[in-house]
Amino acid sequence: MAPRLLAKALDTALDRTVVPGFSKIGYAVRRHLPTWPADPAPGVLDGKHVVVTGATSGLGEATAYQLSRLGAHVHLVVRNAEKAARIAATLPGPSTTWVCDLGDLDSVRECAAALLADGPPLDAIVHNAGAMPATRTESPQGHELSMSIHVLGPVLLTDLLLPKLAGREARVVLVTSGGMYAQALPVEDPDYERGEYAPPTAYARSKRTQVELLPVLGERWAPADIAVYVMHPGWAATPGVTESLPTFDKLMGPILRDADQGADTTTWLVGAQPRPRGGGLWMDRAERPTAYFGRNGATSDERQRMWQWVADAAGVTP
Ligand SMILES: NC(=O)c1ccc[n+]([C@@H]2O[C@H](COP(=O)([O-])OP(=O)(O)OC[C@H]3O[C@@H](n4cnc5c(N)ncnc54)[C@H](OP(=O)(O)O)[C@@H]3O)[C@@H](O)[C@H]2O)c1
Repeated sequence: MAPRLLAKALDTALDRTVVPGFSKIGYAVRRHLPTWPADPAPGVLDGKHVVVTGATSGLGEATAYQLSRLGAHVHLVVRNAEKAARIAATLPGPSTTWVCDLGDLDSVRECAAALLADGPPLDAIVHNAGAMPATRTESPQGHELSMSIHVLGPVLLTDLLLPKLAGREARVVLVTSGGMYAQALPVEDPDYERGEYAPPTAYARSKRTQVELLPVLGERWAPADIAVYVMHPGWAATPGVTESLPTFDKLMGPILRDADQGADTTTWLVGAQPRPRGGGLWMDRAERPTAYFGRNGATSDERQRMWQWVADAAGVTP
């Protein structure tokens, strides 16, 4: 078999076997395959302005650092300004902090208004902020909190910031989770009002929603020349994993990726030249299937119904 074909087969095998592919083993192997795309060039983001949400911990912190190292002015969209000040001090380049609770749509509106009034034109948004609430929790607007942080907040924030993003070949990256492979789109119960609440289920349903809305969001933001991506980082050791999944963290600890490896594909999607084609789910710098063996993928009718709900809940025109 030719080296590139062999590399592709090995890459696919890693993906389908999950544990090796999602762990640091998958990352280490793939980096050495001839199919691994080149790193973004040093300075490729000089003069560019990039928003990173949830930049105060784990993957968001690593993403902010990597983008800063490539030359970007990083806009840290965070709920804790003190933590952000500590992160900002470690960055090699300039940054600005904007306070925003992604789970509260009023806070998202306030943050967007501040960015629209005082911020520069934007070249990318990385929707990284994430959480796995331990008990069923509602946002101030009455929506289940995982769905609010991972879907409603990012959709509203991007929509409101369109004037800053339009016409710049901008990129929007939503950080999802491989956990979404285990859940279907929650069209019938988007706010998780039925059945016993399980944190990983709520989390994975909201992450599945990010993935299934990709075609809708891509089409919605295409007139502004925005490419939309969803990426999943594999399994990386972060404070979020230690806190929300302590048993998983203990069991998998030795083979978890570090935060830099988890953030790698996000940074690559923001910095790669030419701009990668929008509309896909990415992991380790390659597009991946959104469902395996036909399990848990949504129909276009289900996507449209979910989008109607998301648009209503986020308060944007569908
Ligand atoms: N680590 C993994 O293996 C893994 C796997 C799949 C997907 N992911 C995804 O990767 C992203 C980052 O996760 P992580 O592992 O780095 O977790 P983490 O260490 O807990 O970091 C989460 C970040 O999100 C912020 N955040 C949480 N709720 C927020 C809210 N309502 N408004 C604004 N910011 C909020 C946190 O802010 P505070 O510092 O204020 O708490 C923190 O900066 C998440 O979307 C997660 O679902 C991670």
